[in-house]
Amino acid sequence: MDTLFSSEEHGGLDLAELEKSGVSPRQLTDFSVNSNPFGPAPTVKKAIQAVNLSIYPDRKSHLLRKALSAKIGVVPEHILIGNGTTELIWLTVQAFLKPDDQVVILGPTFSEYRRAANLLGARVEEARAAPPFFEPPLDRLLELIRRVKPRLVFVCNPNNPTGKYLTENGISALLTACKDRSILVLDQAYESFVNAQFFSKLPADNCLILRSMTKDFALAGLRLGYALGSQTNIKKLERFQPTWSVNAIAQAAGLAALDEIAFYQQTIQKLILEKSRFFRQLEESGAQLVDSEVHFGIMKVNQPARLVRQSFLQRFILVRDCTSFQLPQYIRVSTQQESDNLKLIDAFAKIKKE
Ligand SMILES: Cc1ncc(COP(=O)(O)O)c(C=O)c1O
Repeated sequence: MDTLFSSEEHGGLDLAELEKSGVSPRQLTDFSVNSNPFGPAPTVKKAIQAVNLSIYPDRKSHLLRKALSAKIGVVPEHILIGNGTTELIWLTVQAFLKPDDQVVILGPTFSEYRRAANLLGARVEEARAAPPFFEPPLDRLLELIRRVKPRLVFVCNPNNPTGKYLTENGISALLTACKDRSILVLDQAYESFVNAQFFSKLPADNCLILRSMTKDFALAGLRLGYALGSQTNIKKLERFQPTWSVNAIAQAAGLAALDEIAFYQQTIQKLILEKSRFFRQLEESGAQLVDSEVHFGIMKVNQPARLVRQSFLQRFILVRDCTSFQLPQYIRVSTQQESDNLKLIDAFAKIKKE
């Protein structure tokens, strides 16, 4: 099995990789993906069964956009529904960047910002948090923004993979540094895992907020997200969106999920409790975890993360090798339901003894 598994840009199952190894996806418990582990609400599953598969989805996700706008308290023109937050990241770079434009990123972080900006020919600079604590280097980031005057600034808050969270004061300092020449793209894909809030406030005109209904509502197989910003910026993103990119099942799931906010808030409260228990037990077993504000976090493994991932895989557990974040001695684990978390703790104890 050892040569078959490689470090990846993203978590999740890779069926080709598993096929080569003879491991069935059903045998695996996945700790490499950070979405809500408590599954979609029963009414969401029911709603998607009622979707008529033979007609095209609404091109503007009209009903979902209207329902979200009512929850947030803004007109629908401030919102764009996307095929996951990832699509919204790509629409943002297409709408705002041209070759040689400057982009600033707070790292280490989600790789799609750099990948998309590079493909548009932009130049990317990063202010990077350092081990062992990975505190976000806010002063360096502010200095970089003032110096290079980027077109876009990407900040993932709370951050993937470190789970660090910038407070409102930090964000407002960033907005001040951006002035009206830079747009702050605030990826809040994991915001609800800090505060159980699924809706952000309309940001300043020089800010675009991205949210992931994929993560919030356990819809990783469907993908859904929304951008929130000024009507002018939202219109710019919309111009680049492929027609019908948000499929009918995802729209129906999103709409049904909005009627189940109390259910999802309870799942987040449960997850917050389970995370404290899981991380405490891991630490008691000798894991070197970095403090995280969310249900996932990174841990130092003192040997190549690639090999540690393989050792877990031999026990049918998938963790995220952080080599692609340039953290080759760290893995990322995401809290699951209690019975699964116990499996990881057990495997960790065995791997440590090897
Ligand atoms: C920071 C961040 N943003 C966006 C995404 C992608 O979200 P979605 O599945 O909604 O496209 C991820 C997924 O890992 C992520 O970590």
